[in-house]
Order: sequence, then structure tokens, then C-alpha cells
Amino acid sequence: MDACDLPDCKDLTMRWRFLPLPLLLLLLSLLVDGDSGFRICAYNVDNFNLAKASQRSVLHTLTRVVARCDICLLQGVKDPDGKAIQKLLISVNRATQRYENHKYKEVSSKSHGNSPADMQQYVFIYRSGMVNVTGKHQYEKKNAFVRAPYAVQFQSDKTAIKKFVLVPLHTDPSKAVQEIDRLYDVFEEVRKKWNNTNVMFLGNFHASCAYMTRTNKKDIRLFTRAGFSWLIRDKVDTTVGEHTNCAYDRIVVYGKPFLKGITPFSAIVFNYVKEFKLSKTRALDVSDHLPVEVRLKSSASLLQAIPLLILISVSAIVQYCLSAL
Ligand SMILES: *[C@@H]1O[C@H](CO)[C@@H](O)[C@H](O)[C@H]1NC(C)=O
Ligand SMILES: *[C@@H]1O[C@H](CO)[C@@H](O)[C@H](O)[C@H]1NC(C)=O
Repeated sequence: MDACDLPDCKDLTMRWRFLPLPLLLLLLSLLVDGDSGFRICAYNVDNFNLAKASQRSVLHTLTRVVARCDICLLQGVKDPDGKAIQKLLISVNRATQRYENHKYKEVSSKSHGNSPADMQQYVFIYRSGMVNVTGKHQYEKKNAFVRAPYAVQFQSDKTAIKKFVLVPLHTDPSKAVQEIDRLYDVFEEVRKKWNNTNVMFLGNFHASCAYMTRTNKKDIRLFTRAGFSWLIRDKVDTTVGEHTNCAYDRIVVYGKPFLKGITPFSAIVFNYVKEFKLSKTRALDVSDHLPVEVRLKSSASLLQAIPLLILISVSAIVQYCLSAL
């Protein structure tokens, strides 16, 4: 007796023939979407100074967070002589050299603040083989910000968008609404300076809970003017603590071209407490904030898609022939 004389068995063989295509498509979509792309992160590290960089577990956690990113903006850095950041750079370079051979560099702003005890810098740590710094600009208008944005223009041949400007902001909580609104003035300045509207704003804006409510949005030009996309949404929680549930840390981009250069749905909070299976206490030793991140499409995505399209077509033809048997 033939193994397939049973009716159920025939059914199975028929189904089997149709299974591979959807499965293949699923696999391919995973491949395409995967973990590829160019990752930009923003992380508010409370009081990152030499004492903190000398705590082994803090340095270790921070290294793991930073080493995932092609560019990582750190805020809350109190390191005027650069020693803490050097320590972090050495650690990140050591961690990634073995496998990926990335070389990280940094670019830092001067210290800003309204009291000598709380002077903070913006620091971008970036993979020098993936991206170049092509310009730096300190926003200087008096009394507009407690920590005035330090804009940096990046250029990369690895990303679909070749040149983009990152504008960091760590607001003063009591002036969050005004400071977020003034990012529009910074936008006007940098777009003129570099003739580039591919501008991304990122950092701890305190754009949530008591500091920025829904009714405040009408007073913020990054909401009222057209063209700004808030990629980290209001409902997200960017804090570590159990008692806080606030979308303080944000990423906003300007313009359709830039938006098209971003991997859809890639703007997320990176919950490293869960990912790295850390205790809350150990996480809070680093910061009470979680990093936010977004991915830029890589310049090769179309080229990479061509072999996949061929593969899909071939498999469709094979499917068709099989089912015609
Ligand atoms: C950085 O700039 C150098 C010199 O212009 C260039 O050769 C290199 O390809 C650039 N790197 C990237 C990743 O775009
Ligand atoms: C500014 O950029 C636009 C679009 O990229 C370009 O067409 C224009 O020539 C540039 N203007 C200057 C002054 O470089």
C-alpha cells in the first residue's frame, strides 16, 4: 500500500507544497528588517563624572549601551577635563574591537548650566568608520536655554540620508515648554548655516508628566509648525523607576526626506534593565532614565533588496510549477 493512500496524508502533501513560500517570505522579511541600519541613541546619564566612570559596574553597563549605537548622545556629563569620557571611550573601543572592529571617537560641547555645581556637557560618541563629523555649532542666544544645544552635522556614505544634523537638548525641567519651543529657533539657525533641513532633535526634553502637558503643545512650535515628526510618542515610559511613567526623552525629526530615511517603527526606548537583566538598583546607579534610539536606513538597502527580490520571484515560479504537477 502506498504511504499516501490515506486521505489525510494526501492533504498534507498538498499543504506542504504551499508552505515554503509564506515561510520563505517571513524569513526574508526578518532578514530585511533585522537589526540592520544605523542606530542613533540618546541617553541621559545623571552626573557622569570621573568618580562614576571609575565604578566598574556603571562603566560596564554604559559600555554595553553605547556600543550598540553608531552615534550615542550622552547628556548629564560633568567632565570638563574629559577624563571620564576618555575612560568610557577606551572601554567601548576595547569591547567592540574584538568582534566588530569599530573605532569610536567623541565630540563634546563646553559645560553649560545655571550653577557652578551643575555644569553639564553634551557628548556625542560615534563610530568613526561609519560616520564623519562635518560641522559643530554652539547655539549662543542669551537666556534661551540653561544648556544651549550644541548642534553637530554628520556625514555618512553608509546611510540613505547622507548629511544630517543632530541637535541635543537636556531641558531645565522648570522651563521645559519654553526650551522645547525654542528648538525651532535653533532649527532655523542650523538649517541656514549648513543649508540642511535633515535635522533631528534628541535628548531629555522633560516632555511629559508635570513638565509638559497636552495643553502646552499649542505653545511649542515643534508641534504647531508643519513638518516635525515626534518619533517617541507620549505614552512611552523613558524612566527606570516603577513610580514614574513619563516620556521625558524624545526624538523629533524634520521633513519628509529625513522621515523616509528612517527605518519605520525603529524609534524605541531601549530597556536595558530588561535586556541586560539588571537589578533596578544597578540600573539606577547609572541613571534613572532609559536610552531612546532610532535607526536610519542604510544606503545599501535597495541593493540588498535586489537579490532578495530575485529569490522571491524564483521561489514563486518553483511554487507554481510544483502546484501544476
Ligand atoms: C569620511 O570622510 C572620508 C574623507 O572624506 C571619506 O573617505 C569616508 O568615506 C567618510 N566616511 C564615511 C563613513 O562616510
Ligand atoms: C541648498 O540645498 C539645496 C537642496 O539640497 C540645493 O538645491 C541648493 O543649491 C543649496 N544652496 C546652496 C546655497 O548651497
